[in-house]
Amino acid sequence: MHTPWAHRYAHRTQRMGSSAIRELLKLTEKPDIISFAGGLPAPDVFPVVEFQEACQRVLQDYGAQALQYGTTEGYLPLREQIARHTARYGIQVGPENILITSGSQQALDLIGKILINRGDRILVESPTYLGALQAWNAYGAEYVTVPMDKSGMNTDAMEEALRSGPKFIYVLPNFQNPTGVTLSLKRRHKLIELADRYGVPIIEDDPYGQLRFEGEHLPSVVLLDHRFRENGNGCYSGNVIYLSTFSKILAPGIRLAWVIAPQEVIAKLVQAKQGADLHTATFNQIVAHEVSRHGFLDQHIKVIRDTYKERRDVMLAAMDRFFPAEVDWTHPEGGLFLWGTLPKHLSAAEVLKVAIERKVAFVPGDPFHPNGGGHNTMRINFSFSRPEVIMEGIQRLGEVIHELIGNPVKVG
Ligand SMILES: Cc1ncc(COP(=O)(O)O)c(C=O)c1O
Repeated sequence: MHTPWAHRYAHRTQRMGSSAIRELLKLTEKPDIISFAGGLPAPDVFPVVEFQEACQRVLQDYGAQALQYGTTEGYLPLREQIARHTARYGIQVGPENILITSGSQQALDLIGKILINRGDRILVESPTYLGALQAWNAYGAEYVTVPMDKSGMNTDAMEEALRSGPKFIYVLPNFQNPTGVTLSLKRRHKLIELADRYGVPIIEDDPYGQLRFEGEHLPSVVLLDHRFRENGNGCYSGNVIYLSTFSKILAPGIRLAWVIAPQEVIAKLVQAKQGADLHTATFNQIVAHEVSRHGFLDQHIKVIRDTYKERRDVMLAAMDRFFPAEVDWTHPEGGLFLWGTLPKHLSAAEVLKVAIERKVAFVPGDPFHPNGGGHNTMRINFSFSRPEVIMEGIQRLGEVIHELIGNPVKVG
């Protein structure tokens, strides 16, 4: 049926479409489905009591300020707190290099708004984060892809992509969404060197870097940018825009994240954000600041790491036990996801259809590949479900894959 609106939508809406992830997330709302589909943090470790107490303190001590409009850049004490927090990971910047956004998803959208003209190419990993594609499709982006392997984006294959003149490079160096893979230190250096040589800036999206539960922390790409070290005045003016978020270290429901960028970029992003939402919710910012104080954030991140490590271990052990030998999967050292590769002749979308009948869900990998491919891959989340549920869900999924491969096996 045609409504009066149908012919009025802007051209940019043509490539919007609802994402496969969002559609699938609807299924996870059914209580009897074991869902490895969403990128959801473990709800059982949300610091509900701390939030409750912080809300009360904020309303009591700063009620009027918390309920008032705020500055677009974000609540200064929160930006200062983020600066102190990231300094622990070597990223030493002042609040003038930091913009608070309503989730990193908004940061991706604002980046699209200030940088992408219709037809601009963006260099992305393949597979890459679906939410970034969703944000940038609306601005008319095209993609030039670089394949991933178990050490992250294959920087040896980058030069060809760079020769096509991309506007910027989008990289997820830590426990990538969707693969769970980490970009090796050698490749981080190579990435910086190539980006410099071709004069192409980098967007580093790092929601999971603090959730490492194994192996050594690797320096962020922004930190490897030589302009970071050269410039001793604590003000960054280099080639990288860095994104991170409170979604995976506190709670996604508060929609709070931050961008670290050169001041001139922050100024442009601020103008773009004013048109979007004026500023991120003042109340949420003050509450997050209050909750995170006195070392609570560090303490809480440790709890999350321990919880996710246990869940990852249970999932890997269950996959060893229940998955057919023809299936391969990554062993992430942190984050929320792992990535399965089925035999070439098997489509993950077909597997999902049967899996849903058996009340278990994951996300098929093809939508994460902007230029096609990946039909036999699957993103599997291990952070959301409790260990015993993970065990049960992976057993069901293993049985489905066994059956579809053609050797029905009941593993007992
Ligand atoms: C790579 C990546 N970037 C950005 C986001 C969006 O995060 P936020 O909740 O801060 O909007 C996510 C969420 O899963 C993500 O995986």
